[in-house]
Amino acid sequence: MQLTLDLTRKKAEELGKPKTFGQFVGGQWIEGDGGETIALENPATRRILGYIQSGNAKDVNRAVEAAASAFPKWAMSAPAQRQNILRAIAQRIRERHFEYAMLESLNNGKPITDAFTHDIVGAMGHFEFFAGAAFFPHGQTADFADATMLVHREPIGVVAQIIPWNVPLLMAAFKIASALAAGCTVVLKPAEVACLSVMQFIEDIADIVPPGVINVVTGYGHAVGEALVSHPKVRKVTFTGSRPTAQKIIGYAAKNVIPQTMELGGKSANIVCEDANIEAAAQSAVITNIFNKGEVCSAGTRVFVHEKAEDQFLEAFQRQLQAIKQGDPLDPETQLGAMASKMQFDKVSGYLELAKDEGATIFQGGKAASIDNLENGLFIEPTIFTEVRNDMRIAQEEIFGPVTSVIRWKDEAEMLKQANDTEYGLAGGIWTNDLTRAHRIARGLETGMIWVNRYYNFKPGMPLGGYKQSGFGREGCLETLSHYTLTKAVVINLDEPQSTYAVRAPAPNTES
Ligand code: NAI
Ligand code: MG
Repeated sequence: MQLTLDLTRKKAEELGKPKTFGQFVGGQWIEGDGGETIALENPATRRILGYIQSGNAKDVNRAVEAAASAFPKWAMSAPAQRQNILRAIAQRIRERHFEYAMLESLNNGKPITDAFTHDIVGAMGHFEFFAGAAFFPHGQTADFADATMLVHREPIGVVAQIIPWNVPLLMAAFKIASALAAGCTVVLKPAEVACLSVMQFIEDIADIVPPGVINVVTGYGHAVGEALVSHPKVRKVTFTGSRPTAQKIIGYAAKNVIPQTMELGGKSANIVCEDANIEAAAQSAVITNIFNKGEVCSAGTRVFVHEKAEDQFLEAFQRQLQAIKQGDPLDPETQLGAMASKMQFDKVSGYLELAKDEGATIFQGGKAASIDNLENGLFIEPTIFTEVRNDMRIAQEEIFGPVTSVIRWKDEAEMLKQANDTEYGLAGGIWTNDLTRAHRIARGLETGMIWVNRYYNFKPGMPLGGYKQSGFGREGCLETLSHYTLTKAVVINLDEPQSTYAVRAPAPNTES
């Protein structure tokens, strides 16, 4: 399908009538208990696109009860049945590819082309990957002279899934596909900032998914988060978002001692060695600056450039960044859209001020961008900071915008120390033609994902997750299934009953 501005504008009009979504519980849309709603906004125009329920603890309780009722049957369903359902969901996304890309672009401000070629394709891919993975969770046996041990692998139960607004549908797919494949039922809490695509998607797949297997509660995090995570029938929580919110959720999870998967922020190093293809390295810096407006947890926001390559790199980075097209997210030519919300726009603007206070140089950009015909839009110019020291706040804190800090290096060991001198550890990039060096640096980085000679090279089945305060647990891969399942060991004795057994337990037999 060829995207054109005419086509997207027409579709935007069609989708433009604000719709109000209820809570999705047990396969039905029901009114929220409180009756209040939250408006979903288009950050490029500030127009209202729709409304979601502003949920409360009662809404949460109904959703968790529905998920708990659906669990026993879903947990015992055949892998082939789960596979069929996951494949049918992927197929439905394929049928509505353009529409979902539009909803994503309208509500989040991301360029339609990004949504079309990345978000929606990725969402399909996760359902397809986990359709195959539905056959994977199984136990094992081990044989001993006096016993047979069976290790069953069983789905953990009702899972709470709390997701952010930067890649709403992709993130919903990410969470739902793996949990369903494992045999869990789900209560999803989308972000109140942007979730139009998610709500429409849930409506569209309601006929495919057995009632209660997927439930959705919308609302502000502070109003529903604690009730959801500390509900006695919730057995696991997965979260993607900010570190402060993660700390709260871990606190709620402590109440019933439930396990957590946390995918938090990052301040990833994109390391450019002097022998690298500098033009390509600069292009990667441009991509991680502008892609999804920099609202990406794994963005390479700290570019470490070897001093010998610095001038050439900065020239290429600036030249390529100046050539990108910022503007109307609905224009297929647009490469940099609007920040997702006023909150995010204000946050990024604050860091643009802070950079000056901290003594960094604004090499490119550095202020709000004004876009013709979208004067109310929340746009920020693509920005490069130079003369950055790694201990500045702009190099330590997640900005989540089209902003890159460039840090000069000379000595590899010292550079690695600085690259690791951050509380985060989500991703990283390495640019060099020296294979030994690439491996050495990769092994030295305290981070969960590393791309050599191509940033954002996501692959199906690639474990996603971080080191340190970027979180724990891995998503998007077979290991994810182990987070949604528990093992149960059953040891069957093969010996005759022992007469002494009643009075003294046998010593563990470690030899066999
Ligand atoms: P947030 O972490 O507060 O929001 C993410 C989700 O958590 C939303 O669904 C929100 O409703 C929910 N939430 C908020 N408070 C909660 C609570 N007490 N209990 C349960 N759920 C709760 O992120 P926010 O405030 O929207 O963005 C702030 C910063 O977080 C961003 O500027 C960015 O730096 C970072 N962030 C990182 C993301 C990532 O992919 N790792 C995604 C989104 C934000
Ligand atoms: Mg927050």
